[in-house]
Amino acid sequence: MAAGQNEISGTAPPMAPTDAWAAANPGSKSLTQRARRVLPGGVTHDVRRAVPFPVAVARAEGSHKWDLDGHELVCYVMGHGALLLGHSAQPVVAAVRQQATQAFHPGASHELECEWAELVVDLVPSAELVRFTASGTEASLLALRLARAATGRERIVKLAGHFHGWHDQVSFGTDPPFRGPDTAGVPGVLGQVVTVVPADAQALADALGGGDVAAVILEPSGAAWGTVPLPAGLLATVRELTRAAGTILVFDEVVSGFRWSPGGVQAVAGVTPDLTALGKILAGGMPGGGVTGRADLLGHLSRAGDDPLRVAHPGTHNAHPLSAAAGIAALSECRSGEPQRRADRLAAALRAGLTSVLAEAGVPGRAYGESSTFHLLIGHAGEPEQASLETLKAGGMSPELSAELHTGMLLEGVHLFHGSGFVSAAHTERDVELTVAAFAATLARLPAGLLP
Ligand SMILES: Cc1ncc(COP(=O)(O)O)c(C=O)c1O
Repeated sequence: MAAGQNEISGTAPPMAPTDAWAAANPGSKSLTQRARRVLPGGVTHDVRRAVPFPVAVARAEGSHKWDLDGHELVCYVMGHGALLLGHSAQPVVAAVRQQATQAFHPGASHELECEWAELVVDLVPSAELVRFTASGTEASLLALRLARAATGRERIVKLAGHFHGWHDQVSFGTDPPFRGPDTAGVPGVLGQVVTVVPADAQALADALGGGDVAAVILEPSGAAWGTVPLPAGLLATVRELTRAAGTILVFDEVVSGFRWSPGGVQAVAGVTPDLTALGKILAGGMPGGGVTGRADLLGHLSRAGDDPLRVAHPGTHNAHPLSAAAGIAALSECRSGEPQRRADRLAAALRAGLTSVLAEAGVPGRAYGESSTFHLLIGHAGEPEQASLETLKAGGMSPELSAELHTGMLLEGVHLFHGSGFVSAAHTERDVELTVAAFAATLARLPAGLLP
């Protein structure tokens, strides 16, 4: 059982969760202070910035992890969605161990990369050929390069709020105000070729009307793994529109791939993209990504060196043997669909439980989501589809509420991925019960005035 840090929660201590959690976590605090001397902001991923400071984890197994101060936490971050089978899943650990004794990096072709690609081709409906990359970001970058090479066009259309990694060409319109760029340091010229449109059929039709768009890239789950659901039928419409415009349709299934089903969203929706970017579960929790799709498009990678349509793609860690070993082990487990069904079932129970807690507390809102994910939406009574992109991305929460909720849940032994989470096949009914109880206790101790 996860050990709550809030032994006195029943007595409603006056301390706000952020203060109580800070007091109970001197180990995470002192590591943050040390890290700030050598790591910008003390973190290595933007998403780990947290108030009052990030939680530091010593060890993880199954659905749980243990922080530096010895607290046991039910984990819903799950390797940023990479761990559908849970932390340190035995078949994955065994495969990585075995490969580590064979060869870390032979700097040569190897059998595992072939077996890994065969699994992808077997599972993903659109997959004819696969090129492995070192991350999901690199996968979306390569997919766009292939689309430009194949069409001879430059323009890219992306949907507002959708995330495709941190490379320059997709760093537009992901965060409020949903135009772009999202970051300093992006060349201004890219703003002329990347168009951000809302997720609606008319906007897409307008953007494609000039016949000059190389690719439309989108998360087929809806932005941020379904935080912002897509309008019904949009995937089929965008498929028709892109086909008619001679534009390459890229599904970014870095999160949804192998999670929504063994074949990703595309297998469930029955809509086949031209290219698919993969990552996370693909590599079983090790670093990795890949582009798959039509053989004629991937074929640009194997054109002769002097062919002007050849797409170059080196990369020291492409199809790294340890990632390949972990990926093969994970995909072999996932191909039956059973881990997904188990995780989906638990996530549905969790969403229902969290929604009931809000109702019982008289707080408008719900937990929603598809597959084995959940997202909190607080302060909004209607369906998520009726809320704005800004509201959904923030979970309806002010930054203060978000911080207090996050640390409140940590105090109760639950690590949320901000207002969302990934459920794995290693989670249990007991984890769900614990999380629902933790949510009720956390709501009860939030400082007055934070909840709507
Ligand atoms: C939909 C989506 N695409 C691409 C990426 C980038 O993948 P990576 O972090 O492996 O570069 C992410 C990462 O979270 C993602 O969620």
